[in-house]
Amino acid sequence: MERTFFNGNIRKEHAGQEVSLAGWVANRRNLGSLLFIDLRDSTGIIQLTTDHPDDFPDVRNEYVVAIKGVVRLKEVPNPSLPTGEVEVVLKEMEVLNKAKNPPFIIADKTDALEDTRLAQRYLDLRRPCMLNKLKARAKICKIFRDYFDDKGFLEVETPILNLSSPEGARDYLVPSRLKHGSFYALPQSPQLWKQLLMVSGFERYYQVAKCFRDEDLRADRQPEFTQLDLEMSFMSQDEVLSLMEGFLYRIFKEIAGVEIALPLRRMKFWDAMDNYGSDKPDTRFGLLLNDLSSYMEGVGFAGFEGNPFIKGIVVPGGAAHISRKVIDEITLEMRKYGLKGVLSLKVENGALAGSFAKFLNEEQGKKLIEGLSMNEGDMLLFASSSSRRHIDNALGALRLFLGRKLDLIDEKRFDLLWVIDFPMFDKVEGEDRYTAEHHPFTRPRDEDLPLLDSDPEAVLAYAYDIVINGYEAGGGTLRIYDHDVQWKIFNLLGLSDEEVGRKFGWFIDAFSYGAPPHGGLAFGLERLTMILTGTDNIRDVIAFPKNLSAVDPLSKAPQSVDKDQLDVLGIALTEE
Ligand code: AMO
Repeated sequence: MERTFFNGNIRKEHAGQEVSLAGWVANRRNLGSLLFIDLRDSTGIIQLTTDHPDDFPDVRNEYVVAIKGVVRLKEVPNPSLPTGEVEVVLKEMEVLNKAKNPPFIIADKTDALEDTRLAQRYLDLRRPCMLNKLKARAKICKIFRDYFDDKGFLEVETPILNLSSPEGARDYLVPSRLKHGSFYALPQSPQLWKQLLMVSGFERYYQVAKCFRDEDLRADRQPEFTQLDLEMSFMSQDEVLSLMEGFLYRIFKEIAGVEIALPLRRMKFWDAMDNYGSDKPDTRFGLLLNDLSSYMEGVGFAGFEGNPFIKGIVVPGGAAHISRKVIDEITLEMRKYGLKGVLSLKVENGALAGSFAKFLNEEQGKKLIEGLSMNEGDMLLFASSSSRRHIDNALGALRLFLGRKLDLIDEKRFDLLWVIDFPMFDKVEGEDRYTAEHHPFTRPRDEDLPLLDSDPEAVLAYAYDIVINGYEAGGGTLRIYDHDVQWKIFNLLGLSDEEVGRKFGWFIDAFSYGAPPHGGLAFGLERLTMILTGTDNIRDVIAFPKNLSAVDPLSKAPQSVDKDQLDVLGIALTEE
């Protein structure tokens, strides 16, 4: 039976037509004299029917069949299916393959645990909701290629077996058979290669690039993920951002049907940290952070000693909503950030009440109420720390917790913004050394170059992240293209001249041969897909992901290997 139609494409204009279809039995209802079968293929589900069930083979769910039949209009349409206005009256049916009873229901709604689904992912991927997420992912890649191809970008593949570089996350290593004791590293990103392509004069590069990072996994992180990676020469930061916005506009329009307003708003890194306690602020709700240090001046509370950074969040009407139980949950959450919990105050009969109130005199209380525009029934949750970044991170987490707990987030909304003006460095606590806020190839702002010697922490960089609904969906920078500046940055990151030469000399040398000004960005393909398909689980948008222990529950990778395999690599295992 040669297939003439995909199931999901049959519509009422096909009524009367004979069709040959194929697919999987998604559901079957035998009412004695009437049989209904939902037949699923990669495009959707169509209902088959017959009033002569005995003329056809007995099929069960997930059997693979080919059928011939005639399309007719349904008496009672099913509005929940795109094919719901029609059904196909069976004429012939052939069973192409039988199926065992699947271990979980193959339908959008399933109560199976995720590890069960991952262990037989090929069945899980039969669920239309899963296929649709992967279709959205493929469409993003297609739009990416089309859009940047139109703009003159060239797709170039870069190596998967690389030199290990000491920056960023931990590398995945691959032992060399030909050079025992030596290792390749899988790419954390194609960063160095794409910059070298700019030195080669390619000017505009893109790649759908597989990246590997051996870091702690989270709901939005996988050890193996994909970047939509870009690099371009002779463009200003404004030009880069507006080119990227054109791409974002297209994917939101074509996948979510939403027209985002351009240009996107921009927020400076320190404003994001001060107000939202995060460099990837979820701007779909308020509850901004307030700096309380000036209000708490002279307040005799022992906990503030040595902790000059005091910040808090006003929860409107919080006195009624934030119960003792919620405070306990907050305490647990704050412990993850190294705080004992939060302090609280509420406005009762026009004055501050709560256990902390006794530390404030009348005037201090009044100033606080007025300064923070607090109203009757509002609650102030606050904490203190010795470090600005620490208090911001902790209260940023508190803000997100409250946003979710109090149901303040409009899940249907897409809020996009650029976070810009990142500092170049973050000081390593207790050491005379810095880490790069983005990566070491990021270019300091021209006007801040003199500060590299006098005040590195104050140096801001040409760096930008695209933040959507609280996710860092992509990030990039303009790059250093001067040999000496690049060298100096590595020195500030704690590498000696000898180390810079040994580890990065091959790369920095290229800058002595006419490197153009350049910059770029990488979008996280999975994160974009998650946002556009409305899931908060990164594994939902990867066909065969790893679980939170970095294991593939289907193939059970990683596993031990034969001794012979290790011997040719010159590797001997030590006992744990
Ligand atoms: P960065 O490290 O910010 O930049 O990565 C770019 C984007 O990749 C995504 N991403 C991840 N997605 C899933 N799992 C992970 N483990 C993971 N890590 C990162 C994020 C992130 O914004 N070479 C630079 C880019 C550049 O400067 O051009 C880079 O890799 O969405």
